[in-house]
Amino acid sequence: MAGTSGPDLRWILLLPPLCFTVCFAEVVVSVPEVVEAELWKNVLIPCTHMITEGPADYSVQWFIADKNGERRRIAYRDEFSTSIDRNTEYTERVSVDQDFSLRITGVEVTDERVFYCQVMAGEAGNGEGMTNLKVYAPPELQEVKKNAGTLSVTESSASEIGTCVGKNGNPAPTITWYKNGKVLPATTERNDDIYLVSRTVKEASGLHSVSSTLYLRPTKQDKDSKFYCRLQYLMPQGKTESVDSEKFSLKLHYYTENVNFELLSPLLIKEGDNVTLRCQADGYPPPTYDFYKVTDNTNEEIESNLEGLLVLEHVTKESSGTYQCQTLDFDSPPEILLTKNVDIFVNYLEPLILEPSKEVRVPLEGDLEMSCSGHGSKPMELKWKKGEKLLSSSSTLSLKSLTYHSAGPYTCEASVPEVPGLHRSQSVHVIVQGKPKIEEKPYKRHVSTEGEKVTLTCLVFGHPNPEIFWSVPEVQHSMNHSGNVIISTVTVEVTQKLIQSGVSCSASNSHGTTQHSFHLSIVPSTAAPSLSPAVNQQQGGSSTAVIAVIVCVVVLLLLVGLFYFLQKKGKLHCGKSEKKSLTHKEANTNEIVDEMKTDKQHEHRGLLASGGGGHSGDQC
Ligand SMILES: *[C@@H]1O[C@H](CO)[C@@H](O)[C@H](O)[C@H]1NC(C)=O
Ligand SMILES: *[C@@H]1O[C@H](CO)[C@@H](O)[C@H](O)[C@H]1NC(C)=O
Repeated sequence: MAGTSGPDLRWILLLPPLCFTVCFAEVVVSVPEVVEAELWKNVLIPCTHMITEGPADYSVQWFIADKNGERRRIAYRDEFSTSIDRNTEYTERVSVDQDFSLRITGVEVTDERVFYCQVMAGEAGNGEGMTNLKVYAPPELQEVKKNAGTLSVTESSASEIGTCVGKNGNPAPTITWYKNGKVLPATTERNDDIYLVSRTVKEASGLHSVSSTLYLRPTKQDKDSKFYCRLQYLMPQGKTESVDSEKFSLKLHYYTENVNFELLSPLLIKEGDNVTLRCQADGYPPPTYDFYKVTDNTNEEIESNLEGLLVLEHVTKESSGTYQCQTLDFDSPPEILLTKNVDIFVNYLEPLILEPSKEVRVPLEGDLEMSCSGHGSKPMELKWKKGEKLLSSSSTLSLKSLTYHSAGPYTCEASVPEVPGLHRSQSVHVIVQGKPKIEEKPYKRHVSTEGEKVTLTCLVFGHPNPEIFWSVPEVQHSMNHSGNVIISTVTVEVTQKLIQSGVSCSASNSHGTTQHSFHLSIVPSTAAPSLSPAVNQQQGGSSTAVIAVIVCVVVLLLLVGLFYFLQKKGKLHCGKSEKKSLTHKEANTNEIVDEMKTDKQHEHRGLLASGGGGHSGDQC
């Protein structure tokens, strides 16, 4: 306080502020009226001065007013040194800048007070200014404590809805309640409809906490209402900031007034569908739902264990009709029973009628007419198919000159264009009857050595199922019925004998017998090119021999007839003539005599068998 005189100080304190700056004072001090600071931040309170009469030694003192209103110095500075007063609440937190500004670090809420800046200029006198430090602390919004219970719309007074708390703010924040985005009128007077109970607490720290509890009498419309509170607070430079709580809704208890019963899916119903109907009542908690199928005499109850849902599984034509949902709300003042009906229609197709039905037998090369008809809830389209192949896009199918390959199942398919997915089909089995028909499978005609094995296959068609015989004792034999074909396979060892006799398969059923022959030959692979013409020639020779033998046999028979005739008439000898003829033939053939002999015997037997005659020429 060096250099300060009593009268000067008194003068300054008594002077109004206006005079203080413009009148006769020789030391003019100016400080801002208000300085704003945020909690825990640092702040600088400026203090500028003007000395009107010449330069002088000067110094500054900073004061605060304590709880009792008494001034206490906290810091001093002159040209040469700074001193911070001991044992004040600012001892650790202030400093004075060269320009006399007071610097406070870590602003606390209790720093919100008046600070005095006194400038002393020796002979020139003293000057002083005072400033208000304002401290701003944003409050924190706590989670809304909402009423977790079920509220009834039938209550006669307002119920507690929720409490909103904003903690530790400065200045004290405010709370506003909103419903569906609109401010709720904030009366604090108790009444039956809506009011608020608010409280502001000053915490030990000096910060303020506010709470606001909303009381309201809910209506049924509030079942979807969204409530929230908004905490508003001031920040430096006149800014207002706010933070909103989470939105919440109420658990309301209200009774059913309306029932809605509707078909969920599918809208276009067909047989086999699962149909879902939903019943919804606007009461809470939901009422009980009962489902019925409405019939002429009495309603038939349908069990449903799903809340409000009725699922009809795999509906049929019979499922069409009227369904009813009944709701019974036990909570409503007079128990109310509400009902709603829904009609459903199930599209259907009756089983198709085929003519002929199931199975039909047709002679080989015969014709067949088939027709298909059906009945359903909507117009249908018919078509005939065999397997995947479309044969006719109408209700009839004409088949001409049937072969064995035509046998098998034919299907009539019905579909309803208006109802996707609704279709039916029915098949008829066509059996082609007739004499067996044999198809061969490619086989190895020329083998290179004797003893080689060859596999031969006959594909036999026919109905009734033919019996199959092979002309050889087979090595391996397998039969396979697949569809209307019998696959008969043999594996033979090629021998000279087999080459001469050939191999044949024959098939017979009640309609007749069919035979098929396979021809084999040996072509040694090493000498194949040079030998093949010879072999061909040999084959050619052997067929010539066969023709020769046939001619001879015919001639022989004629001769036998002639001799017989002559014997009756003129006693000629028969054995002599035959011997002569055979000798003649032997002379005509060369090196393939043996082969010719076997051939002759074979053909002979065949001819006689087909002719149905006796045994051999030597008999006569
Ligand atoms: C109908 O429901 C049953 C049982 O839930 C299910 O197995 C079946 O696949 C459903 N049928 C259709 C056409 O959705
Ligand atoms: C016999 O028929 C079956 C099917 O019916 C087929 O898988 C098999 O290949 C056939 N066997 C022969 C030798 O054709």
